[in-house]
Amino acid sequence: MSKSITTRILSFLFAFLLVSMFAFAQDDGTTQGNGTTDNTTQTGGAAGGLSDNADVIAKGEELFNGNCKQCHAVNAKVVGPALAKVYERRNIPWLINFIKYPQKTIESGDAYAVALYKQYNQFMPNHDFLKDDEIVAILSWVKKETDNPTVAKTPPTGEPGTPQNPTESNSGLLVGIVVALATLLVVVLAVLAMLGSVLTKYLAKEKALSEADRAILEQKVEWGKILTSRGFVGIVSFVFVALVLKVATEALVTIGVQQGYAPDQPIPFSHKLHAGQYEIDCKYCHHTVEKSKHASIPGPYVCMNCHNAIKTTSPNMDLIYKAVENDEPIQWVRVHNLPDLAYFNHAQHVKVAGLDCTNCHGNIKEMEVVQQVSLLTMGWCIDCHRKTEVNAKGNGYYDNLLEMHSKYSKQPMKVENIGGLECSKCHY
Ligand code: HEC
Ligand code: HEC
Ligand code: HEC
Ligand code: HEC
Ligand code: HEC
Ligand code: HEC
Repeated sequence: MSKSITTRILSFLFAFLLVSMFAFAQDDGTTQGNGTTDNTTQTGGAAGGLSDNADVIAKGEELFNGNCKQCHAVNAKVVGPALAKVYERRNIPWLINFIKYPQKTIESGDAYAVALYKQYNQFMPNHDFLKDDEIVAILSWVKKETDNPTVAKTPPTGEPGTPQNPTESNSGLLVGIVVALATLLVVVLAVLAMLGSVLTKYLAKEKALSEADRAILEQKVEWGKILTSRGFVGIVSFVFVALVLKVATEALVTIGVQQGYAPDQPIPFSHKLHAGQYEIDCKYCHHTVEKSKHASIPGPYVCMNCHNAIKTTSPNMDLIYKAVENDEPIQWVRVHNLPDLAYFNHAQHVKVAGLDCTNCHGNIKEMEVVQQVSLLTMGWCIDCHRKTEVNAKGNGYYDNLLEMHSKYSKQPMKVENIGGLECSKCHY
């Protein structure tokens, strides 16, 4: 036996320590706390009309994720304030009104709202498309998260304009476990080392030892050998390669995700001014949105309908006039862009399904510069198809389908039930 036993044992323990730390560190991106259906609120009564019903809370979470998450978290400041205990700062009717019409509330001179605005210096978009009970559901979820947060939530890192990492999740607990395990291993190693030295000392006093036994006894731990041993080097390289792969796959998953993208445009056209303040209908400019796959971008002639009379002397108008004279389009920079492999149809969603633009584009009426609010990933489409009921009202085409569906299921007919999850519906 040429290699020392101690060397082998130590190198094995080392490797075990490394591998187990790595194995647990792996988990943090993928495990999601599933405390969402937990309806055991600790404070018995609901705060002023908020509910502790699990269904309401689940609906609130969904609405929060769809409409508020890009700017708010419960326990952390994002773009807007942390919402924890907001239902104690203000009463529910005030909150409903503020969430629906924040800008109006601020402009009305409401002292609290004005102070908030001074601090954050940014308007929150209107949410007048939400019903009162939907806002109550959101606040109920906020209350649940305040009292009883979903396991160790890491606050979203989203700043306005930076794409958010969709795989981000709760890793606090796992980090805790890894640290505990590592500490345990260190303790075990220390105990073993102590035992080893006690035994060695005891045996050293023993006279009747054979030559071979004494050789083993007098062996020194050879750190150099451990560090250069093939097993150790192999395992370290493995861990290194695996870590690099993990980082690389995480980066790849978010490639092409452009949430928050808001490029500068050749003319600073403001939706806030045109669609918000002057209340010009979206369809006046994006007039194909109910008829075709694409929502058209208006040409300079549409602008001229008004701007041959309005603001005729501004340098921005000169850009429009030049485009008209030369009969060439204004080179708008595209904001939303699905890859060619995916098929998306506006008419289907706006006309047939009756969805409001805000569902997917956020509140464009408040945007000075158009921003991509939704993820536009496959998961985003699928998620909505799983949750959204088909709008079958007054649509004869759906009568038969609805009848069939209700025979087999008591659940409402969702988009997934009419084939909204079939690959071929969205992929050419
Ligand atoms: C585009 C960013 C944005 C979105 C989206 C957004 N908010 Fe806000 N919110 C803010 C900002 C900024 C403030 C601070 C007040 C201000 O400056 O207008 C705020 C303030 C609030 C407040 C008052 C907080 C306090 O401490 O009193 C509440 C409540 C609130 N938001 C709820 C919501 C809810 C509910 C949603 C989703 C339905 C939502 N917000 C969506 C940006 C946003
Ligand atoms: C007066 C004309 C006009 C009106 C009204 C208008 N838009 Fe637009 N919209 C434009 C122009 C011009 C662009 C291209 C420049 C830009 O992105 O800002 C555009 C761009 C967009 C984009 C981004 C397109 C892309 O490149 O991905 C969306 C989404 C959008 N509009 C939605 C809306 C919605 C929703 C409404 C109604 C609330 C609306 N628009 C009202 C003129 C208009
Ligand atoms: C179900 C989600 C959804 C709804 C509802 C929706 N859009 Fe879109 N919109 C998208 C997606 C996805 C794209 C990107 C399409 C692409 O790249 O092919 C887009 C792109 C656009 C564009 C860029 C041009 C184009 O068609 O690619 C405009 C303009 C636009 N939307 C306006 C609107 C307006 C106005 C409404 C409301 C009347 C609306 N959208 C409703 C999802 C939606
Ligand atoms: C339905 C009428 C209407 C249409 C259509 C319209 N605008 Fe406007 N636009 C206005 C009004 C009203 C103002 C505000 C003028 C003021 O502030 O005095 C305005 C202001 C502007 C401004 C800011 C003023 C400036 O000098 O910079 C720009 C830029 C602008 N529009 C660009 C466009 C573009 C580009 C289009 C076509 C995509 C367009 N508008 C279509 C009504 C319209
Ligand atoms: C806000 C919710 C929502 C989002 C987000 C959404 N959809 Fe839909 N989608 C619907 C609804 C509702 C219908 C049902 C329309 C109908 O009644 O035919 C539908 C129908 C469809 C259909 C027709 C399905 C069928 O069986 O006839 C296709 C294809 C489709 N969506 C593609 C997409 C793609 C691609 C995306 C993402 C880029 C997307 N959708 C995002 C709500 C959504
Ligand atoms: C509701 C619409 C929808 C359905 C159903 C759907 N996809 Fe997709 N898929 C998309 C969209 C949108 C993208 C582009 C996402 C992006 O750019 O991030 C995509 C992207 C992809 C990609 C490219 C990889 C990527 O993530 O960019 C693959 C592969 C794919 N889908 C396979 C499938 C398969 C297999 C099915 C059936 C099990 C399916 N899809 C069903 C909408 C859909």
